[in-house]
Amino acid sequence: MKTFTDKIRRAFSDAADQYDILTSLHKEIGRELVKKTVRLNAPRILDVGCGTGYIANKAKFFFPESVIVGLDLAEGMLMKASEQHTGIAIDWVQADAQKLPFKDHSFDLILSNLSYQWVLDIQAAAREAARVLSTGGNFYITLFGSRTCQELFQSLHTVFPDMAIKALPTVAEIANALTQAGFKNIAIDYEIIKVEFRNVRELLEWLKAIGSNSLSDSNVFLGKEALANVDAHYRRHFPYNEGISTSFEVIWGHGGT
Ligand SMILES: C[S@@+](CC[C@H](N)C(=O)[O-])C[C@H]1O[C@@H](n2cnc3c(N)ncnc32)[C@H](O)[C@@H]1O
Repeated sequence: MKTFTDKIRRAFSDAADQYDILTSLHKEIGRELVKKTVRLNAPRILDVGCGTGYIANKAKFFFPESVIVGLDLAEGMLMKASEQHTGIAIDWVQADAQKLPFKDHSFDLILSNLSYQWVLDIQAAAREAARVLSTGGNFYITLFGSRTCQELFQSLHTVFPDMAIKALPTVAEIANALTQAGFKNIAIDYEIIKVEFRNVRELLEWLKAIGSNSLSDSNVFLGKEALANVDAHYRRHFPYNEGISTSFEVIWGHGGT
């Protein structure tokens, strides 16, 4: 029986080839994240959930002398990352954010863009981040919060009342995880970004293409009629011009060690 982690690993590996052309939203947020760190002294940097390596590569640009490690669960993402950044001194490591394969105090800065929402035990992952950071280190993350795609999930639930959907973390849960992990000077912020799609089919296809379809129960078959009903509910309650509007809650977090 496949675990949730197996599903995520497979979904992101399958998405690796087309991931970059479909994720301008992720890149925009990632660029802002890296910008916040460029004045730090960080000889050793870890990018958790590095995907195809966009953030790790940006970090190499701003910190050319630093050792950079990109870590991800999905082998397909790491293959794409090393292929795309050939000749750039970045180490690619396959591992789970909940169990980092590094000694205590191995890094000065951990960056992570839109990945921790996939981690099952956010408290364990925050503890691991604190453990591998040196004293005076920094943890800068973004992740999708609980208000992400609520319009879609609400519409799916009207047609499939029993459909299981993974709950994304709330701002309070992230603040709590960082506090419990012993981070200092914690700062949490969030923003809601609205993205327009033509219809529910286009939104679902996009989520699948970027590997984010493990949020909902894959045992549920979304046939033509069911899809039309979900789309009708969505349009009635969350219309936007000719199409539909979808919310993405981006949580920004920082903690020091
Ligand atoms: C939405 S992508 C973000 C990728 C990249 N950071 C970016 O900004 O484009 C999320 C990534 O997190 C990875 N991931 C999910 N769960 C993980 C875990 N428990 N440990 C490490 N990586 C994980 C996925 O494989 C995927 O590559």
